Amino acid sequence: MSDRFDVRSVRAHFDFPELGRLVLNNAASTQPPRELPALYASLAGAYENVHRGQSSAARETTALFEDSYDTIAQFIGAPGRDCLALYRNTTEAINAVMYSLLTEFRDGDNVVTTMMEHNSNYVPWHAMCRRILPRLGRRVDYRLARFDPRTGELDLDHLASLIDARTKLVCCTGASNFLGVKTPLAAVRALADASGYPQPTGERRSYLLADGAQLVPGSYVDVRALDVDYLAFSFHKMLAPFGVGVLYGKEHLLASALPFLYGGDMIAEGRVFHDRVEYGSLPWKYAAGTPNILGTIVSAQALRLLLDLALTPDQPVYFGTGKPVDGVTVQAAMDRVSAWNRRLTGRALEGLGAIGGITIYGPRDAARRTSLVAFNLAGRDPFGVAEALNLVGVEARAGCHCATLAHHALELTPAASCRLSFYLYNTEEEIDLALDALSAIAAGPA
Ligand code: ALA
Repeated sequence: MSDRFDVRSVRAHFDFPELGRLVLNNAASTQPPRELPALYASLAGAYENVHRGQSSAARETTALFEDSYDTIAQFIGAPGRDCLALYRNTTEAINAVMYSLLTEFRDGDNVVTTMMEHNSNYVPWHAMCRRILPRLGRRVDYRLARFDPRTGELDLDHLASLIDARTKLVCCTGASNFLGVKTPLAAVRALADASGYPQPTGERRSYLLADGAQLVPGSYVDVRALDVDYLAFSFHKMLAPFGVGVLYGKEHLLASALPFLYGGDMIAEGRVFHDRVEYGSLPWKYAAGTPNILGTIVSAQALRLLLDLALTPDQPVYFGTGKPVDGVTVQAAMDRVSAWNRRLTGRALEGLGAIGGITIYGPRDAARRTSLVAFNLAGRDPFGVAEALNLVGVEARAGCHCATLAHHALELTPAASCRLSFYLYNTEEEIDLALDALSAIAAGPA
């Protein structure tokens, strides 16, 4: 294994460079290495449902599907597959937590989240508090922790002031998809732990749900070290095709909670009667209905390929195998991805900072950020800026990035910014091309 991160070899696995695309919208979705669509196609041979047939094909597909849970658990340092529930994406995973915990919230409880959340970690809590629970005659509040408008850092003092003995759950992003800032999850964990909230399990603390959509793709995340109760993330932001998201939950919480979805395969075999239904064991208790079987297999293999691209892009070791994935390897790989992303982000921050009339949101230190930078140019519509970038081949994103509360908190009109976001296959030359294009747009007619 070379010490150097070999971005040229990484890029050889993708189609987009040959197509001349300069993809800097990776916080929305990353590009798939060509091995992954090819893997989809190769799975057609043993195409079958899982847990629903006795053929060799059904057994083979079931084994690949179940092994995928193990790979995912190993990648995030979870004790095992029983800590996982798979959904379509991060949004659905967070909604699953909301529906699971819905019945446990007591009148007068609260849920604390932050102003920097993606809408997927605010709108479900708003819906629960304002739309759903009132119909059941229960009053539960949501509370929103501020961030520093200058630095984009989460205001931990304000967060601490919102958490009390009625806070069942604290929800916090691991990294903002607008401000870029990585949140201090250990400090948030400590505040949640100290609340004294009496959970039905007998624990006296608030649960912590981390939105890992922007954190997990570019950082080493060990759920046991972070000690989060729930972690949600999506594979389409870490090389895999669209369609599969993960909910990690501590096993005792998933074991005791009610599922979000009910139906086939989540029940104990044969244990359905006219007067009672017994649910299956973990993790299948959370897998009602035919799942996204091929998507799950390809997504788990995307994690393996991510390790290979980071460590040995010319000689894949993990992809296409069931080789156990150990934490040391994951950390080595993700530290490389993170270092490369930091280098790209630092270069972008430096170049953007030199453009007249620019406002950059979030910390100026790349080490405090995930790999994205959002900004506005004075007097320019951010959508127009993104469209002008596209005309010269630079793929950016303008909008509120679904971080609508944070755009309102900064009083942006329109509630929008332009954003460049990077991943392990981007090069410093690409960053420079984007910066040159942006400088020209800034210097040109409004
Ligand atoms: N959450 C995704 C983004 O930031 C879609 O673009």
